Amino acid sequence: MNQAPTTTGPTIAIIGGTVVDRHGERRADVHVADGHIVDPSAMESWEPDTTVDATGLVVCPGFVDLHTHLREPGREEAETIETGSRAAALGGYTAVVAMPNTDPTQDCVSVVEFVRRQGIAAGLCDVHPSGSITVGRQGTQLTPFAELADAGVTLFTDDGNGVQNPQLMRRAFEYSNSLGVTMAQHCEVEALTGGAVMHEGECCSHLGLPGWPSLAEELMVHRDIELVRLTGAPAHFLHLSTAGSVDLVRRAKADGLPVTAEATPHHISLTDELLRSYSAIYKVNPPLRTMDDVEAVRAGLADGTIDAIATDHAPHVSESKERPLDQAPPGMVGLETSLGVALAHLDMPLVDIIAALSWKPAGIARLGDRHGRDVESGSPANLTVFDPNEEWEVVPALLASKSHNTPFVGVPLRGKVRHTILDGTFTVLDGKATR
Ligand code: DOR
Repeated sequence: MNQAPTTTGPTIAIIGGTVVDRHGERRADVHVADGHIVDPSAMESWEPDTTVDATGLVVCPGFVDLHTHLREPGREEAETIETGSRAAALGGYTAVVAMPNTDPTQDCVSVVEFVRRQGIAAGLCDVHPSGSITVGRQGTQLTPFAELADAGVTLFTDDGNGVQNPQLMRRAFEYSNSLGVTMAQHCEVEALTGGAVMHEGECCSHLGLPGWPSLAEELMVHRDIELVRLTGAPAHFLHLSTAGSVDLVRRAKADGLPVTAEATPHHISLTDELLRSYSAIYKVNPPLRTMDDVEAVRAGLADGTIDAIATDHAPHVSESKERPLDQAPPGMVGLETSLGVALAHLDMPLVDIIAALSWKPAGIARLGDRHGRDVESGSPANLTVFDPNEEWEVVPALLASKSHNTPFVGVPLRGKVRHTILDGTFTVLDGKATR
Protein backbone atom coordinates (compact mmCIF):
# COMPACT_ATOMS: atom_id res chain seq x y z
CA MET A 1 0.00 0.00 0.00
CA ASN A 2 1.24 3.54 -0.84
CA GLN A 3 2.19 5.51 2.27
CA ALA A 4 1.41 9.25 2.30
CA PRO A 5 4.73 11.15 2.42
CA THR A 6 5.80 12.86 5.63
CA THR A 7 8.11 15.86 5.90
CA THR A 8 11.40 16.27 7.68
CA GLY A 9 12.66 19.73 6.59
CA PRO A 10 11.22 23.25 7.12
CA THR A 11 7.70 23.75 5.82
CA ILE A 12 6.21 26.91 4.37
CA ALA A 13 2.68 27.94 3.42
CA ILE A 14 2.25 30.89 1.04
CA ILE A 15 -1.39 31.85 1.32
CA GLY A 16 -3.68 34.03 -0.79
CA GLY A 17 -1.30 35.04 -3.59
CA THR A 18 -1.61 35.06 -7.37
CA VAL A 19 0.50 32.32 -8.88
CA VAL A 20 2.06 33.14 -12.25
CA ASP A 21 3.86 30.53 -14.31
CA ARG A 22 3.76 29.14 -17.89
CA HIS A 23 0.08 28.29 -17.37
CA GLY A 24 -0.75 31.95 -16.76
CA GLU A 25 -2.24 33.55 -13.64
CA ARG A 26 -4.40 31.89 -10.98
CA ARG A 27 -5.25 32.29 -7.32
CA ALA A 28 -3.60 29.48 -5.38
CA ASP A 29 -1.89 28.72 -2.10
CA VAL A 30 1.58 27.23 -2.37
CA HIS A 31 3.03 24.77 0.11
CA VAL A 32 6.68 23.87 0.47
CA ALA A 33 8.38 21.01 2.26
CA ASP A 34 11.76 19.34 1.93
CA GLY A 35 12.85 21.76 -0.79
CA HIS A 36 9.87 21.09 -3.06
CA ILE A 37 6.37 22.29 -3.72
CA VAL A 38 3.96 19.83 -2.16
CA ASP A 39 0.27 19.06 -2.07
CA PRO A 40 -0.69 18.97 1.62
CA SER A 41 -3.83 16.95 0.90
CA ALA A 42 -1.59 14.08 -0.18
CA MET A 43 0.44 14.24 3.05
CA GLU A 44 -0.05 12.38 6.28
CA SER A 45 0.30 15.55 8.33
CA TRP A 46 0.78 19.20 7.44
CA GLU A 47 1.88 21.86 9.89
CA PRO A 48 3.74 24.79 8.26
CA ASP A 49 6.67 26.21 10.22
CA THR A 50 6.19 29.56 8.45
CA THR A 51 3.02 31.00 6.94
CA VAL A 52 3.35 33.92 4.56
CA ASP A 53 0.35 36.11 3.73
CA ALA A 54 0.68 36.72 -0.01
CA THR A 55 -2.56 38.67 -0.45
CA GLY A 56 -1.97 41.13 -3.32
CA LEU A 57 1.38 39.50 -4.11
CA VAL A 58 2.61 37.45 -7.07
CA VAL A 59 4.13 34.02 -6.45
CA CYS A 60 6.23 32.80 -9.38
CA PRO A 61 9.25 30.71 -10.32
CA GLY A 62 12.49 32.36 -9.16
CA PHE A 63 14.24 34.72 -11.55
CA VAL A 64 17.31 33.62 -13.51
CA ASP A 65 19.91 36.17 -14.59
CA LEU A 66 21.87 35.24 -17.68
CA HIS A 67 24.36 38.02 -17.20
CA THR A 68 25.91 38.75 -13.78
CA HIS A 69 29.44 40.00 -13.11
CA LEU A 70 30.36 38.77 -9.63
CA ARG A 71 34.01 39.99 -9.87
CA GLU A 72 35.43 37.17 -7.74
CA PRO A 73 38.16 36.04 -8.24
CA GLY A 74 40.23 39.15 -8.79
CA ARG A 75 38.17 42.25 -8.07
CA GLU A 76 36.68 41.56 -4.68
CA GLU A 77 36.82 45.28 -3.82
CA ALA A 78 33.88 45.76 -6.25
CA GLU A 79 31.85 42.60 -5.49
CA THR A 80 32.26 39.13 -4.08
CA ILE A 81 30.28 36.04 -4.90
CA GLU A 82 28.64 36.38 -1.50
CA THR A 83 27.64 40.06 -1.83
CA GLY A 84 26.54 39.58 -5.44
CA SER A 85 24.49 36.52 -4.49
CA ARG A 86 22.81 38.51 -1.72
CA ALA A 87 21.96 41.26 -4.20
CA ALA A 88 20.60 38.60 -6.54
CA ALA A 89 18.39 37.05 -3.86
CA LEU A 90 17.04 40.50 -2.93
CA GLY A 91 16.22 41.05 -6.60
CA GLY A 92 14.22 37.81 -6.67
CA TYR A 93 16.86 35.65 -8.36
CA THR A 94 17.35 32.01 -7.50
CA ALA A 95 20.07 31.49 -10.13
CA VAL A 96 22.62 33.67 -11.88
CA VAL A 97 25.08 32.95 -14.68
CA ALA A 98 28.45 34.35 -13.58
CA MET A 99 30.32 36.10 -16.40
CA PRO A 100 33.88 34.94 -17.05
CA ASN A 101 35.77 38.27 -17.04
CA THR A 102 37.31 37.53 -13.68
CA ASP A 103 41.02 37.51 -12.84
CA PRO A 104 42.03 34.77 -13.46
CA THR A 105 39.52 34.27 -16.28
CA GLN A 106 36.91 31.51 -16.02
CA ASP A 107 38.67 29.66 -18.82
CA CYS A 108 39.57 26.41 -17.05
CA VAL A 109 37.91 23.90 -14.75
CA SER A 110 39.73 25.01 -11.58
CA VAL A 111 38.45 28.60 -11.78
CA VAL A 112 34.94 27.51 -12.73
CA GLU A 113 34.88 25.07 -9.79
CA PHE A 114 36.12 27.82 -7.45
CA VAL A 115 33.25 30.12 -8.50
CA ARG A 116 30.70 27.34 -8.10
CA ARG A 117 32.03 26.41 -4.63
CA GLN A 118 31.94 30.03 -3.44
CA GLY A 119 28.35 30.22 -4.65
CA ILE A 120 27.41 27.11 -2.70
CA ALA A 121 29.17 28.48 0.40
CA ALA A 122 27.22 31.76 0.16
CA GLY A 123 24.00 29.75 -0.19
CA LEU A 124 21.94 32.68 -1.47
CA CYS A 125 21.32 31.62 -5.05
CA ASP A 126 22.61 29.07 -7.55
CA VAL A 127 25.79 30.50 -9.05
CA HIS A 128 26.26 28.94 -12.46
CA PRO A 129 29.67 29.86 -13.91
CA SER A 130 29.98 30.54 -17.61
CA GLY A 131 33.21 29.65 -19.37
CA SER A 132 35.12 31.97 -21.67
CA ILE A 133 35.22 31.15 -25.37
CA THR A 134 38.90 31.97 -25.67
CA VAL A 135 41.83 31.54 -23.29
CA GLY A 136 42.17 34.63 -21.09
CA ARG A 137 39.42 36.20 -23.26
CA GLN A 138 42.27 37.13 -25.58
CA GLY A 139 40.41 36.10 -28.73
CA THR A 140 43.12 33.85 -30.13
CA GLN A 141 42.77 30.30 -28.76
CA LEU A 142 39.64 28.37 -27.84
CA THR A 143 39.25 27.13 -24.26
CA PRO A 144 38.85 23.38 -23.54
CA PHE A 145 35.10 23.33 -24.24
CA ALA A 146 34.69 19.60 -23.61
CA GLU A 147 36.40 19.69 -20.21
CA LEU A 148 34.42 22.76 -19.20
CA ALA A 149 31.17 21.20 -20.43
CA ASP A 150 31.99 18.08 -18.37
CA ALA A 151 32.40 20.40 -15.38
CA GLY A 152 28.85 21.67 -15.95
CA VAL A 153 29.46 24.80 -18.05
CA THR A 154 26.55 25.29 -20.44
CA LEU A 155 27.10 28.85 -21.65
CA PHE A 156 30.34 30.22 -23.10
CA THR A 157 31.13 33.88 -23.69
CA ASP A 158 34.05 36.32 -23.79
CA ASP A 159 31.69 38.97 -22.42
CA GLY A 160 33.27 42.35 -22.00
CA ASN A 161 34.60 41.62 -25.47
CA GLY A 162 33.21 40.00 -28.58
CA VAL A 163 35.19 37.34 -30.43
CA GLN A 164 36.59 39.40 -33.30
CA ASN A 165 37.99 36.61 -35.50
CA PRO A 166 35.22 35.03 -37.64
CA GLN A 167 37.22 31.85 -38.31
CA LEU A 168 37.74 31.27 -34.58
CA MET A 169 34.05 31.96 -33.96
CA ARG A 170 33.08 29.50 -36.67
CA ARG A 171 35.15 26.81 -34.93
CA ALA A 172 33.61 27.76 -31.59
CA PHE A 173 30.10 27.24 -33.01
CA GLU A 174 31.11 23.92 -34.60
CA TYR A 175 32.60 22.49 -31.39
CA SER A 176 29.80 23.83 -29.21
CA ASN A 177 27.15 22.14 -31.29
CA SER A 178 28.48 18.66 -30.64
CA LEU A 179 28.72 19.36 -26.89
CA GLY A 180 25.23 20.73 -26.34
CA VAL A 181 26.44 24.09 -25.01
CA THR A 182 25.57 27.63 -26.12
CA MET A 183 27.82 30.41 -27.39
CA ALA A 184 26.77 33.80 -26.02
CA GLN A 185 28.18 36.77 -27.88
CA HIS A 186 29.01 40.28 -26.72
CA CYS A 187 28.44 41.92 -30.09
CA GLU A 188 31.00 44.64 -30.71
CA VAL A 189 33.31 45.06 -33.67
CA GLU A 190 36.15 46.71 -31.81
CA ALA A 191 37.67 48.33 -34.89
CA LEU A 192 34.61 50.60 -34.84
CA THR A 193 34.50 51.42 -31.12
CA GLY A 194 38.06 52.31 -30.08
CA GLY A 195 38.02 55.15 -27.52
CA ALA A 196 34.22 55.41 -27.57
CA VAL A 197 32.47 56.59 -24.41
CA MET A 198 28.83 56.76 -25.57
CA HIS A 199 26.43 56.04 -28.43
CA GLU A 200 27.43 57.65 -31.74
CA GLY A 201 24.63 59.99 -32.71
CA GLU A 202 23.32 63.50 -32.41
CA CYS A 203 23.85 63.82 -28.67
CA CYS A 204 27.42 62.54 -28.94
CA SER A 205 28.29 64.96 -31.77
CA HIS A 206 26.85 67.79 -29.75
CA LEU A 207 28.98 66.88 -26.75
CA GLY A 208 32.06 66.32 -28.91
CA LEU A 209 32.69 62.87 -27.45
CA PRO A 210 33.94 59.76 -29.29
CA GLY A 211 31.01 57.55 -30.29
CA TRP A 212 30.15 53.80 -30.37
CA PRO A 213 28.09 53.31 -33.55
CA SER A 214 25.09 50.97 -33.68
CA LEU A 215 26.75 49.36 -36.67
CA ALA A 216 29.51 47.94 -34.44
CA GLU A 217 26.89 45.80 -32.67
CA GLU A 218 24.80 45.00 -35.73
CA LEU A 219 27.75 43.78 -37.85
CA MET A 220 28.59 41.14 -35.28
CA VAL A 221 24.95 40.12 -34.78
CA HIS A 222 24.74 39.70 -38.55
CA ARG A 223 28.02 37.74 -38.74
CA ASP A 224 27.00 35.35 -36.00
CA ILE A 225 23.53 34.80 -37.46
CA GLU A 226 25.24 33.73 -40.68
CA LEU A 227 27.59 31.45 -38.71
CA VAL A 228 24.54 29.90 -37.02
CA ARG A 229 23.00 29.37 -40.48
CA LEU A 230 26.24 27.67 -41.58
CA THR A 231 26.88 25.51 -38.52
CA GLY A 232 23.41 24.92 -37.08
CA ALA A 233 24.77 25.73 -33.59
CA PRO A 234 22.68 27.81 -31.19
CA ALA A 235 23.74 31.39 -30.41
CA HIS A 236 22.64 33.73 -27.66
CA PHE A 237 23.04 37.48 -28.14
CA LEU A 238 23.95 39.38 -24.99
CA HIS A 239 22.65 42.84 -24.04
CA LEU A 240 21.20 43.90 -27.43
CA SER A 241 20.82 47.66 -27.63
CA THR A 242 19.91 48.79 -31.14
CA ALA A 243 16.78 48.74 -33.31
CA GLY A 244 18.86 47.17 -36.11
CA SER A 245 19.99 44.27 -33.90
CA VAL A 246 16.40 43.55 -32.89
CA ASP A 247 15.40 43.43 -36.58
CA LEU A 248 18.25 41.07 -37.43
CA VAL A 249 17.27 38.66 -34.65
CA ARG A 250 13.60 38.90 -35.58
CA ARG A 251 14.42 37.85 -39.14
CA ALA A 252 16.77 35.08 -38.01
CA LYS A 253 14.02 33.64 -35.83
CA ALA A 254 11.57 33.86 -38.71
CA ASP A 255 14.09 31.81 -40.71
CA GLY A 256 13.94 29.18 -37.97
CA LEU A 257 17.50 29.68 -36.76
CA PRO A 258 18.34 28.65 -33.16
CA VAL A 259 19.08 32.13 -31.86
CA THR A 260 18.06 33.76 -28.59
CA ALA A 261 18.65 37.25 -27.23
CA GLU A 262 18.52 39.30 -24.06
CA ALA A 263 18.07 42.97 -23.21
CA THR A 264 19.06 44.81 -20.05
CA PRO A 265 16.84 46.92 -17.78
CA HIS A 266 18.90 50.01 -18.66
CA HIS A 267 18.44 49.54 -22.41
CA ILE A 268 14.65 49.49 -21.97
CA SER A 269 14.52 52.58 -19.80
CA LEU A 270 17.41 55.06 -20.28
CA THR A 271 18.80 56.99 -23.27
CA ASP A 272 22.07 58.60 -24.36
CA GLU A 273 20.65 62.01 -23.42
CA LEU A 274 21.71 61.22 -19.83
CA LEU A 275 25.35 61.53 -20.91
CA ARG A 276 24.80 65.28 -21.19
CA SER A 277 25.61 65.23 -17.46
CA TYR A 278 29.08 63.86 -18.34
CA SER A 279 28.53 61.44 -15.44
CA ALA A 280 30.19 58.05 -15.86
CA ILE A 281 27.35 56.46 -13.90
CA TYR A 282 25.65 56.35 -17.34
CA LYS A 283 28.65 54.83 -19.13
CA VAL A 284 27.96 51.24 -20.08
CA ASN A 285 28.89 48.81 -22.82
CA PRO A 286 27.00 48.65 -25.16
CA PRO A 287 26.08 52.27 -24.52
CA LEU A 288 22.70 53.79 -23.76
CA ARG A 289 21.11 54.52 -27.15
CA THR A 290 18.30 56.70 -28.49
CA MET A 291 14.59 56.58 -27.62
CA ASP A 292 13.95 54.87 -30.99
CA ASP A 293 16.30 52.08 -29.95
CA VAL A 294 14.71 51.84 -26.49
CA GLU A 295 11.30 51.47 -28.12
CA ALA A 296 12.58 48.85 -30.57
CA VAL A 297 14.11 46.82 -27.75
CA ARG A 298 10.83 47.03 -25.78
CA ALA A 299 8.94 45.92 -28.90
CA GLY A 300 11.41 43.04 -29.30
CA LEU A 301 10.65 41.87 -25.78
CA ALA A 302 6.92 42.26 -26.33
CA ASP A 303 6.86 40.13 -29.50
CA GLY A 304 9.30 37.52 -28.20
CA THR A 305 12.19 38.44 -30.50
CA ILE A 306 14.13 39.16 -27.33
CA ASP A 307 13.71 36.23 -24.98
CA ALA A 308 15.14 37.43 -21.71
CA ILE A 309 15.71 40.41 -19.46
CA ALA A 310 19.29 40.09 -18.20
CA THR A 311 20.88 42.55 -15.83
CA ASP A 312 24.52 42.87 -17.00
CA HIS A 313 25.07 43.58 -13.30
CA ALA A 314 28.52 45.21 -13.49
CA PRO A 315 29.74 46.48 -10.12
CA HIS A 316 32.55 49.06 -10.04
CA VAL A 317 33.99 50.85 -7.01
CA SER A 318 32.87 54.46 -6.67
CA GLU A 319 36.38 55.93 -7.17
CA SER A 320 36.49 54.43 -10.65
CA LYS A 321 33.03 55.69 -11.63
CA GLU A 322 33.92 59.19 -10.40
CA ARG A 323 36.67 59.44 -13.04
CA PRO A 324 36.16 61.41 -16.27
CA LEU A 325 34.06 59.63 -18.90
CA ASP A 326 37.02 58.48 -20.98
CA GLN A 327 38.78 56.90 -17.99
CA ALA A 328 35.84 55.37 -16.08
CA PRO A 329 34.96 51.71 -16.65
CA PRO A 330 31.62 50.90 -18.29
CA GLY A 331 28.93 49.16 -16.28
CA MET A 332 25.98 49.48 -13.89
CA VAL A 333 24.67 47.34 -11.03
CA GLY A 334 21.27 45.87 -11.78
CA LEU A 335 20.31 42.81 -9.74
CA GLU A 336 18.27 44.64 -7.12
CA THR A 337 16.39 46.93 -9.52
CA SER A 338 15.60 44.76 -12.55
CA LEU A 339 12.04 43.83 -11.56
CA GLY A 340 11.24 47.43 -10.60
CA VAL A 341 12.56 48.74 -13.92
CA ALA A 342 10.84 46.04 -15.98
CA LEU A 343 7.41 46.59 -14.43
CA ALA A 344 7.74 50.38 -14.61
CA HIS A 345 8.88 50.49 -18.25
CA LEU A 346 7.36 47.55 -20.10
CA ASP A 347 3.80 47.60 -21.37
CA MET A 348 3.50 43.82 -21.52
CA PRO A 349 1.32 41.20 -19.79
CA LEU A 350 2.75 40.30 -16.39
CA VAL A 351 3.17 36.67 -17.40
CA ASP A 352 5.39 37.69 -20.34
CA ILE A 353 7.58 39.88 -18.14
CA ILE A 354 8.00 37.02 -15.66
CA ALA A 355 8.74 34.65 -18.54
CA ALA A 356 11.58 36.96 -19.61
CA LEU A 357 12.91 37.05 -16.04
CA SER A 358 12.48 33.38 -15.20
CA TRP A 359 11.72 30.37 -17.38
CA LYS A 360 12.99 31.72 -20.67
CA PRO A 361 16.48 32.55 -19.32
CA ALA A 362 16.43 29.28 -17.34
CA GLY A 363 15.95 27.45 -20.65
CA ILE A 364 18.73 29.39 -22.40
CA ALA A 365 21.18 28.62 -19.58
CA ARG A 366 19.95 25.00 -19.57
CA LEU A 367 18.92 25.30 -15.92
CA GLY A 368 15.30 24.38 -16.58
CA ASP A 369 15.42 21.23 -14.44
CA ARG A 370 15.77 23.34 -11.27
CA HIS A 371 14.69 26.87 -12.19
CA GLY A 372 11.74 28.43 -13.97
CA ARG A 373 9.64 25.33 -13.25
CA ASP A 374 5.89 25.54 -12.99
CA VAL A 375 4.52 26.24 -9.52
CA GLU A 376 3.10 22.79 -8.94
CA SER A 377 3.57 19.82 -6.70
CA GLY A 378 6.95 18.16 -7.27
CA SER A 379 8.80 21.22 -8.59
CA PRO A 380 11.89 22.36 -6.69
CA ALA A 381 10.85 25.23 -4.42
CA ASN A 382 12.83 27.99 -6.14
CA LEU A 383 10.33 30.83 -5.91
CA THR A 384 9.94 34.59 -5.86
CA VAL A 385 7.12 36.44 -4.12
CA PHE A 386 6.74 40.11 -5.06
CA ASP A 387 4.40 43.06 -4.82
CA PRO A 388 3.68 44.10 -8.42
CA ASN A 389 2.28 47.48 -7.40
CA GLU A 390 4.75 48.79 -4.85
CA GLU A 391 6.36 51.99 -6.07
CA TRP A 392 9.80 52.77 -4.75
CA GLU A 393 13.06 54.55 -5.42
CA VAL A 394 16.49 53.06 -5.11
CA VAL A 395 18.80 54.33 -2.37
CA PRO A 396 22.31 53.36 -3.46
CA ALA A 397 23.69 53.11 0.08
CA LEU A 398 21.03 50.50 0.92
CA LEU A 399 22.00 48.13 -1.90
CA ALA A 400 23.42 44.79 -0.81
CA SER A 401 25.83 44.85 -3.72
CA LYS A 402 29.30 45.98 -2.64
CA SER A 403 29.22 48.63 -5.39
CA HIS A 404 26.53 51.26 -5.71
CA ASN A 405 26.90 52.33 -9.34
CA THR A 406 23.19 52.42 -10.15
CA PRO A 407 21.83 54.84 -12.77
CA PHE A 408 18.30 54.52 -11.39
CA VAL A 409 18.48 57.09 -8.58
CA GLY A 410 15.41 59.30 -8.90
CA VAL A 411 13.78 56.96 -11.45
CA PRO A 412 10.40 55.69 -10.17
CA LEU A 413 10.38 51.89 -9.98
CA ARG A 414 7.38 49.58 -9.61
CA GLY A 415 7.46 46.05 -8.21
CA LYS A 416 9.36 44.96 -5.12
CA VAL A 417 10.53 41.54 -4.03
CA ARG A 418 9.22 40.44 -0.63
CA HIS A 419 10.44 36.87 -0.38
CA THR A 420 12.83 34.63 -2.29
CA ILE A 421 12.97 30.91 -1.65
CA LEU A 422 15.87 28.70 -2.74
CA ASP A 423 15.47 24.95 -2.38
CA GLY A 424 12.65 25.43 0.09
CA THR A 425 14.50 27.89 2.34
CA PHE A 426 14.03 31.67 2.54
CA THR A 427 17.01 33.60 1.21
CA VAL A 428 14.89 36.76 1.49
CA LEU A 429 12.06 37.13 4.00
CA ASP A 430 10.00 40.31 4.27
CA GLY A 431 12.42 42.12 1.96
CA LYS A 432 15.52 41.25 4.02
CA ALA A 433 18.24 38.76 3.19
CA THR A 434 18.28 35.91 5.68
CA ARG A 435 22.07 35.46 5.60
O1 DOR B 1 29.21 47.78 -19.31
C1 DOR B 1 29.72 46.68 -19.26
N1 DOR B 1 30.42 46.28 -18.18
N2 DOR B 1 29.61 45.87 -20.32
C2 DOR B 1 30.31 44.71 -20.40
O2 DOR B 1 30.17 44.03 -21.39
C3 DOR B 1 31.24 44.33 -19.32
C4 DOR B 1 30.83 44.95 -18.04
C5 DOR B 1 31.89 44.84 -16.95
O3 DOR B 1 32.44 43.75 -16.77
O4 DOR B 1 32.13 45.83 -16.25
